Amino acid sequence: MLHPLQLSVANDMTDEEFRLFKQLVYDECGINFKPEKKAFLQNRTIQRMKATDVKSYYRYYKLITDANTGKAELLSFLDVLTINETSFFRNKPQLDLFQYSILPEIISKKRMKNDFTLKIWSAGCSTGQEPYTIAIILNELMTDIKGWKVSILASDLSMTALEAAQQGAYPREKMEGVEASHLKKYFTEKDEHFYAKDELKRLVIFDFHNLMYDNGFSNLDVIFCRNVLIYFDSQTQKQVIETFHQCLAPKGYLFLGHAESLQGINESFIFIHKNKGTAYQMR
Ligand SMILES: C[S@@+](CC[C@H](N)C(=O)[O-])C[C@H]1O[C@@H](n2cnc3c(N)ncnc32)[C@H](O)[C@@H]1O
Repeated sequence: MLHPLQLSVANDMTDEEFRLFKQLVYDECGINFKPEKKAFLQNRTIQRMKATDVKSYYRYYKLITDANTGKAELLSFLDVLTINETSFFRNKPQLDLFQYSILPEIISKKRMKNDFTLKIWSAGCSTGQEPYTIAIILNELMTDIKGWKVSILASDLSMTALEAAQQGAYPREKMEGVEASHLKKYFTEKDEHFYAKDELKRLVIFDFHNLMYDNGFSNLDVIFCRNVLIYFDSQTQKQVIETFHQCLAPKGYLFLGHAESLQGINESFIFIHKNKGTAYQMR
């Protein structure tokens, strides 16, 4: 008897095919496709089927689940399913809370201890606007930044987004939110694009990281994971928050997107709310 997937060419995905692909995506990276997202999943699958010249959902599913030969295509498949929407200085009240309250406090405590290291993680950094925004804020606030060992670890599941982030070149319309003085100070304008200067780039380390499986970092002062957890179900969100808890230094800070929450792990964190900006601090 034919496997249900074997019957189909690249016309509409059956519910069974949707269920299989949806489960695979969930298992691989935590992204949870609700039934109303079927058309999106189908269109993106067809996009990869065309790129690999595979004619049926069944063959494509076999290809990306082949443990020996399917790994690279599986990554490309997950890549096209990610939503990489982002911007510079996204959620300004939250960044003001970081720049004017949280960061000064972290820095003054560290100075008192003669500890000149600062470790920040931008988890789900997409095309780099978030980590470069953090780098601008650090440069503005820390006049002695050259005397510090600063690392902004910026990670994502999407290789395409990471490549763009690493390049750090943005068309003018993507620069909204960056003050004119910062634009001049931290970017070089060429051929209708703004290129992040070395001053920013040297602070950021981009790397592939799957929040579902890869271990996090340790002793982090701050984690930004904004507008990423919304794509996960509550169980995966909880698991990721637990990982963040293990990655943070005592009294470290966590920034989530405005539609995201701690999923009940509230006893481990203190909620901070100031002028519409929100964050969580480890107890
Ligand atoms: C909407 S963007 C958010 C970008 C940025 N944090 C912001 O708030 O502007 C969500 C990012 O999460 C990434 N992502 C989704 N699932 C992931 C996973 N399992 N591991 C790592 N990154 C993931 C996507 O590739 C995408 O770039």
